[in-house]
Amino acid sequence: MSLYDQIQATAAFIQQKTKSQPKIGIILGSGLGGLIDVIQKEAEIPYADIPNFPVSTVKGHSGKLVFGAIDGCQVVLMSGMFHYYEGYSMEEVTFPVRVMKALGVDTLIVSNASGGTNPAFNIGDLMIIKDHINLCPEHPLRGHNDERLGTRFPDMSQPYDHELIEIAKQLAAQQHIDVRMGTYIGLQGPTFETPAEYKMLHIMGGDAVGMSTVAEVIVARHGSMRVFAISVITDIGISDVPITITHEEVLAAANAAAPKMAALVAALVKRIG
Ligand code: HPA
Repeated sequence: MSLYDQIQATAAFIQQKTKSQPKIGIILGSGLGGLIDVIQKEAEIPYADIPNFPVSTVKGHSGKLVFGAIDGCQVVLMSGMFHYYEGYSMEEVTFPVRVMKALGVDTLIVSNASGGTNPAFNIGDLMIIKDHINLCPEHPLRGHNDERLGTRFPDMSQPYDHELIEIAKQLAAQQHIDVRMGTYIGLQGPTFETPAEYKMLHIMGGDAVGMSTVAEVIVARHGSMRVFAISVITDIGISDVPITITHEEVLAAANAAAPKMAALVAALVKRIG
C-alpha cells in the first residue's frame, strides 16, 4: 500500500472511533503529559490499536491518541512521540502527523524536552522554538514524493509560524510565564552530547538540542500545516563544562515545568481555536 493509502486507511479507522473533528493537533514530548489533565476527553485510542501506527517503547510515554476539548476547543493529542533512535524510519516517526493532517488538523503544536546550549538559559526554562537546524541522518521526505501530500521541494523560510509565536509571547506575558526564544538543533540520539558537541552546537547557532520534533515539523510544513513548538530546557550543556545527564533527570525537569507549559499551550489553543 502506498504511504498515501496507508494514511487514508488509518484516518478512516480513527473516524470510525470518534466523531471529533479537531483542527489543532498537539504532540506531547517526554515528561510533558501534564496537558492531558486539562483536556476534556472524548475518545482515547492506544497507538497499539491503530493500524499502521508504530508502537512507542520509551519510558515516560504512554502511547495513545487522545481526542477531546481544551476550553471548548477540539484537539487531538499525541501522548507519546516516536523517536528515530528507537529504530523507526523517519517516515514511521512522522506518520501520525500525516494522519492528523488527513483528519483535518491544520495547526500542529509540538512540545519537547531539550538540553540548553545557550549559557544564558536555566534548567526549567521554556523556550519557544523560532527555527531549527536539522542534523538528523535521515530526512523524512527522502524518497518518492506524493504530490497529494505536499510539494517535492518545500519552502522552509517560516517553519514556525510567526503569528502563533507572537500570540504565545503575549499570552505568556499575561500569565507571568517567562519564555525564551531560540533555535533547536535536532540530533538522532540516543547519547546525550559530549562537551565538544555542546560547544559545536552552540557555535553553530543552536540554543537547545534534542532528539525529536524536527522531522515532525518538516512533515507538517510539507502538508502546509501551521506549526508552533516549545521546549523545556531540562539540562544545560555549556562548552568545556562536562555535565552528566540521565533520562530520569530530564524527565524530572520536564515534569517540573509541565504545568506552566500546559497553561501556555492551553491558552494558545483557546486563542486560536
Ligand atoms: N540532549 C541534551 N539534553 C537533553 C536532550 C538532548 O537531546 N533532551 C533533553 N535534554
